[in-house]
Amino acid sequence: MEKLLVGLKRLEYRGYDSAGFAMDDDDDDDEDEEGRKKRNAKKVIIVCREVGKIANLEALARKELFGEDDDDENDANNNNNNNKASSKSNNSSNGRKKSSSSIKPLDFCASIAHTRWATHGPPNKINTHPHTSDSRENEFVVVHNGIITNHAPLRAMLERRGMKFETDTDTEVIPKLCKFLSDKFEESGEKDVTFRQLAMEVTRQLQGAYALVFKSTKYPGELVAAKRGSPLLMGISDDSGEVSCVIDGNLSDGAEEDVLLKKASGNKKRKSMTGGAAAAAAADADTTTTPTTRITTTTTTTNNPKVEFYFASDASAMVEHTKRVLVLEDDDVCHCHDGTYKIYKVEKQKHPHPGYTSGHDSPEYGLYKPVVLSKEVERTIETLEMEVESIMKGEFDHFMQKEIFEQPEAISSTMRGRLVLDVLGAAERVMLGGMSQFAATIRRSRRIILCGCGTSYNSAIAIRQLFEELTELPVTLELASDVLDRRCPFFRDDTCIFISQSGETADTLKALEYAKAKGALCVGIVNTVGSAISRATDCGVHINAGAEIGVASTKAYTCQIVAMVLVALSLSEDSRSKHTRRDDIMQGLLKLPGCVKECLKMDAILLELAQELKEEHSLLIFGRGFNYATALEGALKVKEVALVHSEGILAGEMKHGPLALVDKHMPIIVVCTNDGSYEKQQSVVQQLKARDGRLILIVSDDDTEMEKTAPDAVILRVPKVEDCLQAVVNIVPLQLLSYHLTVLRGHNCDQPRNLAKSVTVE
Ligand code: AGP
Repeated sequence: MEKLLVGLKRLEYRGYDSAGFAMDDDDDDDEDEEGRKKRNAKKVIIVCREVGKIANLEALARKELFGEDDDDENDANNNNNNNKASSKSNNSSNGRKKSSSSIKPLDFCASIAHTRWATHGPPNKINTHPHTSDSRENEFVVVHNGIITNHAPLRAMLERRGMKFETDTDTEVIPKLCKFLSDKFEESGEKDVTFRQLAMEVTRQLQGAYALVFKSTKYPGELVAAKRGSPLLMGISDDSGEVSCVIDGNLSDGAEEDVLLKKASGNKKRKSMTGGAAAAAAADADTTTTPTTRITTTTTTTNNPKVEFYFASDASAMVEHTKRVLVLEDDDVCHCHDGTYKIYKVEKQKHPHPGYTSGHDSPEYGLYKPVVLSKEVERTIETLEMEVESIMKGEFDHFMQKEIFEQPEAISSTMRGRLVLDVLGAAERVMLGGMSQFAATIRRSRRIILCGCGTSYNSAIAIRQLFEELTELPVTLELASDVLDRRCPFFRDDTCIFISQSGETADTLKALEYAKAKGALCVGIVNTVGSAISRATDCGVHINAGAEIGVASTKAYTCQIVAMVLVALSLSEDSRSKHTRRDDIMQGLLKLPGCVKECLKMDAILLELAQELKEEHSLLIFGRGFNYATALEGALKVKEVALVHSEGILAGEMKHGPLALVDKHMPIIVVCTNDGSYEKQQSVVQQLKARDGRLILIVSDDDTEMEKTAPDAVILRVPKVEDCLQAVVNIVPLQLLSYHLTVLRGHNCDQPRNLAKSVTVE
């Protein structure tokens, strides 16, 4: 249970509406060894669920399962008294209670857990995962990340056949289908259907996206994991086997330190184990995951290696236990049993029997036989270069704060090995190994399309002007969700650049699939190595910002801009006319981490400003040119974490509507650092001043004019850098402001209301 809870806590940023777990129960404390073995052949599964944060689940589990009633529990429940009330009536731990000291280790244990970001049905206890085939028996239990789009017809079909549903979720059809098909196979005399076969028959019926882990009393000690569309990693931890590394392919750009995941050249195949242990799993949400752990705890296994298997939506849930991971691909099904694992790829084929239809109503004609064909496949084990510290808060109070302060180092990492220096330490050229092969094709493109969502889209806005300037190609911007809505005209001579921190955002992934189908060259600007977007793109650049846990994207934004500056520089390296400009930008890049560090010293000033603004209901931010993106991104930060209405406005649009909002009460931030837009911004400030606007101005550190233009304004001075890099510096005070506003207003900046870090559903 400890491992499940820790895994869940690591994944909590992906969803935090409710959480639950299912694990084997040691239901007879007086039983001898022989009895325990027998019990492994038919175990009892306990399911524990709670609304709200993982701390609530932990408190409930300790109390209900182990009779512990400690202070921690009180603390956790104080966070959510309403949730506590609902927990009492829906506890499904089957009334088992034991003291932790009386627990006997199980030979095999397979456990699953999940933290939910609600999509189907409100975040109450009933809708919390794991979902079961029957909440009294818990014969089949499942955790799921994704959305089952055909859940309604499947549910109707199962209801017609007498199954009773208990939740509002799309997921519940999965354990119900397990039970339905399992019973039907038995009735048809198909007694030897394996857990893997059953899971394949179930997933065959599903449409939509899923990462799933199945557990069953019928298959004790076994777990089956399956994936299509949603991310799923497997971790393997054991005492043996050397792991030496070579650089991973796809998105890497040639510099060794750019690559977070490296392939293990050692034992790439499954390891067979002798005896011992168990599989446990923890998971994340309707945006899910599932670490599976094999825990060797008994003294009877002292000669055997400790082997644990984990499944999870991302590596942070398992990095404490293992760095050996493999990324499951779509239509992979992994079966863990008897201390081993095997991965199978489902083969797409028509069922040979003419009476068998695919879809929710099959199998028909009473033909209940497993029909899915699959073949065993190997997946490369890679070594995770992630340190546990990177997913801990360390000396900081919040992840958001930590990640804002990490930016100087993160920006250096983005540039490391890519911005090549001469002997005197000046920047000489840009080297992007992962893109070099494609540079000529990109230069020949008809246009460049920059595509992403939220903050990632804002980084595209920030870089558009430089891309146009250096590549001399038309550059258009697309919000990923809009690409499919509009069925955008993409062509084979387009280059589409997809920007994503997580690399898993469903809208961006769908837009990428669409662009690929149209024949466009697809480039990724991605933080998470091994993610779906980094794997599906033709080439790209990892931004190397390190794990970003806070839901509000901060360091990923600045590193995305820097990575795209590098791309723009590398695409224009042959242009003689741009030599001086390119050189200025490269030298500017070298100074950037130091300038961001300078900006972070403004923390106390921003805290003071936040104190002044904390009761406000609205905030406007004006920017233009390279800093239109700063206005949008600043406003996004303020609204998503501080829960204050905020609008980022292109200053050129001010007179076309927004000016009507200006009065002496409305706080207005104007980004007016010294670049080509400076004079126009000065005029904006004058006009706002004339309407009695309450102004906060972000200006260059050497500026002397703006304070004369608006003597009453609050002035925030930032270091001046090359115009196309200024957005990286200017966003820092706005990130700090939104952080302090959030804390002062008593909100959770790392897990803001209704949001999740990775939006893996459309
Ligand atoms: C930013 O603070 C957001 N939470 C959100 O807008 C995010 O940038 C967006 O969902 C895209 O995510 P991605 O970069 O992981 O694709």
